Amino acid sequence: MLSCQNVARHSVVPASCSAGTLAFSPEAAARAIINAGQSSPARLARLQHLAAASPAAYDAPFALFPMNTPARGSLLGIEHLEANEILGLLKLARRMNPQKARPLLRGKRIVLLFYEASTRTRSSFEFAAKALGAITTLVQSSGSSIEKGESVLDTGYTLRAVGADCIVMRHPSAGAPHLMAQHLDIPIINAGDGMHEHPSQALLDAFTILKHKKSFQGLQATIVGDILHSRVARSACYLLTKFGVKLTLCGPPEFVPDVAATLAPGLRVTRHLEDALRGTDVIMLLRVQKERLAGQKIRLQDYIARYQMTTARLKLAKREAIVMHPGPIIRGLELTAEVADGSQSVIVDEVHNGVPTRMAILARALGKAK
Ligand code: CP
Repeated sequence: MLSCQNVARHSVVPASCSAGTLAFSPEAAARAIINAGQSSPARLARLQHLAAASPAAYDAPFALFPMNTPARGSLLGIEHLEANEILGLLKLARRMNPQKARPLLRGKRIVLLFYEASTRTRSSFEFAAKALGAITTLVQSSGSSIEKGESVLDTGYTLRAVGADCIVMRHPSAGAPHLMAQHLDIPIINAGDGMHEHPSQALLDAFTILKHKKSFQGLQATIVGDILHSRVARSACYLLTKFGVKLTLCGPPEFVPDVAATLAPGLRVTRHLEDALRGTDVIMLLRVQKERLAGQKIRLQDYIARYQMTTARLKLAKREAIVMHPGPIIRGLELTAEVADGSQSVIVDEVHNGVPTRMAILARALGKAK
């Protein structure tokens, strides 16, 4: 069963779990990240000593340093973005052409800092940066000094010192990009933080929906699957409800606890796929994240029986409904191969749209959103 301990282990801010909500607090997340394995009494004493001597030079327990406002152009989440900022980014993305190099960011240095696996996000940010004339470098936890125990902030200070103008960051802990943004003077782009947010995915999904549906007005969307563990779902909920999309979340209680309805105004939760699909224009499927299921009782065969998207179930939605999935897809689990490759699937188009969307995000980050 889902427990507060389960949620806490994935850093969705333990304090907020006991309050019975899925609210995110950057301060609590930062404290959790800094405290995780980095605050032995000896280290704490050393940090206090160093902080007294040179407060700017070292990362230290949260309370020792004032937090700064993230640099202009940072993209940390969708929750606090205004609708007009989102529309501005989508408009800019429509003007971006990955096939036609546009040297808006010539000479800028963009670091792709990935503490977690990625195919789509990493490669599309890299292609996006290069299409705008920027220089990129990839730093992954494996093969870098992160393996030797370097902290998140020390890694950030190092990358800044070698000349980074912007850091695109993926991390397994919620709040890690926020922590970085509060301590560095360059834009930080959240490329997925734990179970919290994945803002660039929500933007490319919005771009894809508008390409196929023209407008958000009167739209009905359904997200099916492991919503609790999904940063994609959380960002999508924030974005779509800002534009009045009627949004239904569907899955078993282990994946969609009742409290999920509090993520954004107007969300509906149902356990029945047939009920969720009726009349929907957009179906967003999520990967069952086996790596986040330790200790839960959910049986995959039961999930498949009740929630797998099949051709027969797809017929319950509107005839023109589109099928989305952030990827990676697991054929035979959350959807069948027929649905994944069928005429209503826009899964490959989502990936394709990731490049212009991320070009817009990077251009905005570095003050070139023209
Ligand atoms: N959708 C998504 O974030 O995919 P990757 O993990 O491959 O980047």
